Amino acid sequence: MNITEAIHARISTRAYLDKPVSGETVTKILETARWSPSGTNTQPWKVAVVQGKTKQTITDAFLDQVKNGTKPNPDYDYYPAEWIDPFKSRRFECGMALYKALEIGREDKEKRIEAGLANFRFFGAPVSLFFFIDKRMGKGSWVDMGMFIQSVMLAAEDHGLGSCPQASTADFPNLVRKELDVSDDFALICGLSLGYPDKEQPVNQYRTSREEVESFTTWFE
Ligand SMILES: Cc1cc2nc3c(=O)[nH]c(=O)nc-3n(C[C@H](O)[C@H](O)[C@H](O)COP(=O)(O)O)c2cc1C
Repeated sequence: MNITEAIHARISTRAYLDKPVSGETVTKILETARWSPSGTNTQPWKVAVVQGKTKQTITDAFLDQVKNGTKPNPDYDYYPAEWIDPFKSRRFECGMALYKALEIGREDKEKRIEAGLANFRFFGAPVSLFFFIDKRMGKGSWVDMGMFIQSVMLAAEDHGLGSCPQASTADFPNLVRKELDVSDDFALICGLSLGYPDKEQPVNQYRTSREEVESFTTWFE
């Protein structure tokens, strides 16, 4: 698979086969991703590979927080406090496409909540990666992390694996840090579900749209 094909093939995969991913495969993916660029080659990434009992413990702890009504307390604001267009309408369209694929109606609040909670079950993926960064690093290193995470997703694609980056799994960073024995000096950026995609599931069969190149590009001579 070449890079262009991998970029086009990658989607956020939200249903997985009950098929294990070998540690060797995960290692190969990270072996590739470590060649991502970073400012002055600082390589600010720190990754936890979570599976089995530990993954289940984290899922249970997430769901407990939700059940107890604990407010999410992420290490950073992924989204703005107030939504403005065009981002607001794109976000709306994104949600609608997901609910349509899941056949969840506008008014069906319960099913919407359940769909949200599926994040904390990693959509049934056998592996979840968690990405951390030293809190003392600057914004530039967060840019590096984005590139690294995209490299992970593209390398996963090359191994026939699906993935879904999940900011939602960074909603309760303290419990993740505690479970994974990560110091409070590290911010949790996001999780990433990883596994063999269940291509039969409608939730994996729709594509999100993108703006045309002209809409975000200005040429100068
Ligand atoms: C950093 C990051 C965090 C995301 N967090 C979530 C999440 O918590 N739950 C989810 O279902 N999708 C999440 N997504 C997936 C986006 O919704 C998805 O990338 C976007 O709708 C485009 O669709 P595509 O990935 O299928 O191309 C996240 C994406 C990124 C890049």
